[in-house]
Amino acid sequence: MLAVMTAIQVQGLEKSFKDLKVLRGVDLEVERGSIFALLGSNGAGKTTLVKILSTLLKADAGTARVHDFDVATQAGEVRESISLTGQFAAVDEILTGRENLILVARLRHLKNSGAIADDLLKRFSLTEAGARRVATYSGGMRRRLDLAMSLIGDPPVIFLDEPTTGLDPEARLDVWQAVKDLAEGGTTVLLTTQYLDEAEHLADRIAILHEGRIIVNGTLAELKQLLPPAKVEYVEKQPTLEDVFLSLVGAKKDN
Ligand SMILES: Nc1ncnc2c1ncn2[C@@H]1O[C@H](COP(=O)(O)OP(=O)(O)O)[C@@H](O)[C@H]1O
Ligand SMILES: [Mg+2]
Repeated sequence: MLAVMTAIQVQGLEKSFKDLKVLRGVDLEVERGSIFALLGSNGAGKTTLVKILSTLLKADAGTARVHDFDVATQAGEVRESISLTGQFAAVDEILTGRENLILVARLRHLKNSGAIADDLLKRFSLTEAGARRVATYSGGMRRRLDLAMSLIGDPPVIFLDEPTTGLDPEARLDVWQAVKDLAEGGTTVLLTTQYLDEAEHLADRIAILHEGRIIVNGTLAELKQLLPPAKVEYVEKQPTLEDVFLSLVGAKKDN
């Protein structure tokens, strides 16, 4: 198989819900093995874009390729190349963590489902909790289990839709570490977030989705260069990603 350097390619993607134009021509590329953060306010269209890329929704116009397969004409191949973890953990409460993992491994027709489950429990520091019902897990443990489930079958591309929304700070750090480990292992990660610090800490590249378009796309350093450093007396204050974001979307800081 040919090496695919670009894991995700999106061109001119448009999507409306009736009169509501959510995506008005989205263009982006995600390099293989990188972490790409799609930043946007509530309702910006992040989930809509992720749903199109994961073949759950059809675009009205434009093209998107994931792992070099076209999402519209090669949906089956795309689905075999990805996993999607939504904002709300999709784990079964009644089953134990280990049973959840085994269930997914069997659904994916993998042999050694027990060994796969044990390996993932270890990777996500859930070995102790593996024999317990998920109903007893904390939010962070559920999200880690959800992430572990999405890795079964080693998909080369994963979509994480607001992976840390609703988590406490400690659990967020755990999820961040898990995401970093994934990318280090060669997995391409596209995550959406409303949290500027999440993008700042995790992402190799950051794109801001605003009013249906990607209004900026670059590394954190590139984004910070969009605003000149503010000189206060003798101290140079570098703009934070929050300053850049608020300046670009034209919003005012409310505090
Ligand atoms: N199935 C749908 N039908 C109608 N409107 C929708 C549907 N899905 C999303 N929307 C609307 O599209 C906009 C973008 O939604 P979404 O992609 O969920 O944004 P985000 O994930 O960035 O918060 C919102 O205004 C939302 O209400
Ligand atoms: Mg969303």
